[in-house]
Amino acid sequence: MKLKNAIVSSTVLFVISFPSFPLGAEPSRRALEIIESRCMLCHGPEGERGSRTYPRLAAQNVAYLEKQLRDFRDGRRTSEAMTGLTRDLSDRDISQLAEYFSKNPPQSRPVRNAVEAELGKKIYFEGLPAAGVSACVACHGNDAHGTTELPRLAGQLPSYIEDQLMKFASRERTNDGSVMNVIAAGLNGSERRALGVYLGSLQ
Ligand code: HEC
Ligand code: HEC
Repeated sequence: MKLKNAIVSSTVLFVISFPSFPLGAEPSRRALEIIESRCMLCHGPEGERGSRTYPRLAAQNVAYLEKQLRDFRDGRRTSEAMTGLTRDLSDRDISQLAEYFSKNPPQSRPVRNAVEAELGKKIYFEGLPAAGVSACVACHGNDAHGTTELPRLAGQLPSYIEDQLMKFASRERTNDGSVMNVIAAGLNGSERRALGVYLGSLQ
């Protein structure tokens, strides 16, 4: 009897202590446990919480998320934070986690600096031909929502975008089929920052 009570109350506690999920984004029990015990700490329960370096996962394209998680697990993309956390995930775990985060709705953030946002927008649509930077719009799309394979950039944290552009340029991140490497290598610090500010303000 005591045991039964203990089981009931711990189940109730588990349910109560876990934040509510948006409609249609209910993860499986196993995925829920992984999110609660590993992902929430840095990405928040909905993939929305960001700090300077933890990217937003909410509303990111599902196939892109899956690829990144497999790349972390299999060592094609390195990250001190993510490598160990993904080592024991199965392909099925990965699809469920990707599915869950991708279904959470996007939120926009206010523009921090209108002048920077204007420069970012110009580079996004026109590129910097003299520096060999192609226009981002060609691959990431008019609204920066990406495609199934390519990441959504709209609403991503400006500091994370800046940081990834630097990692592509220095080849610290190499899971992009050498596409972003060439593009990012032509950007300077203020251009990376301007792109982050512009893209972060989109929904
Ligand atoms: C200790 C903090 C931390 C925890 C816990 C964590 N992450 Fe991350 N995550 C990061 C950081 C930092 C990055 C950026 C890595 C880089 O610099 O390339 C990241 C990147 C990612 C990305 C790539 C996003 C993109 O736009 O390319 C995905 C997907 C992701 N995390 C999913 C997860 C999942 C799923 C979990 C739980 C299994 C998790 N993370 C747990 C810190 C964390
Ligand atoms: C020719 C196509 C192409 C163009 C043009 C392009 N990108 Fe990308 N972008 C990619 C690919 C491919 C990836 C990596 C996908 C992967 O890791 O699987 C990527 C990834 C990124 C990421 C990482 C997102 C994340 O969540 O980690 C950022 C940031 C980014 N691109 C910004 C830009 C910016 C800014 C421009 C314009 C200056 C640009 N891209 C132009 C194809 C392109």
